[in-house]
Amino acid sequence: MLGLKLATDPRWANIAEQNLEEILTDHAWCEQKAASNAIYLIINNAELPDLVSTMSEIAIEEMQHFKMVHDIILERGYEFGRERKDDYVNQLVKFCKKNATREEAFIDRLLFAAMIEARSCERFRVLSTNIKDEKLAKFYHELMVSEANHYTVFLGFARKYAGEIDVEKRWKEWLDFEGELIKSYGTKETIHG
Ligand SMILES: [Fe+2]
Ligand SMILES: [Fe+2]
Repeated sequence: MLGLKLATDPRWANIAEQNLEEILTDHAWCEQKAASNAIYLIINNAELPDLVSTMSEIAIEEMQHFKMVHDIILERGYEFGRERKDDYVNQLVKFCKKNATREEAFIDRLLFAAMIEARSCERFRVLSTNIKDEKLAKFYHELMVSEANHYTVFLGFARKYAGEIDVEKRWKEWLDFEGELIKSYGTKETIHG
């Protein structure tokens, strides 16, 4: 359904489970960045009322996710660390079109967001089906559903506003690129690590 080229090895969930403090900290920051991305799209596309409305909802939802994760960190007596670098996302940023027109940059930004939602959703599914902690497994299942919905929204807007851009071709390029990229991950206790 998500079109991903490569599934995460479930052993990654065991790595993650061994350091819940670290994965939860990294995860909280992923949610904050997702909210920031939605706000970025609002700032740059004020003339699109449907996009602004939907991105407002997504920004709020992502900050609710952030708070939920932060609450779990506090409940468990963990320490919420500083923002973690997300090497995977930084590699995706590099794949965004260079010297793009405003329209190309907009569509690529939507596809970039759809890509991250798709992989995050898949990682949450792997966590929810593999970790022994029942409360967290249920939590990750709920988030998986929410991020799948966001994935659909971003891809939907990319298709709607594609104009002259061949969005299906570009989305395929994103999926191919990500499918190769993800081969070097799956070894760290971070959401995309
Ligand atoms: Fe989220
Ligand atoms: Fe999301």
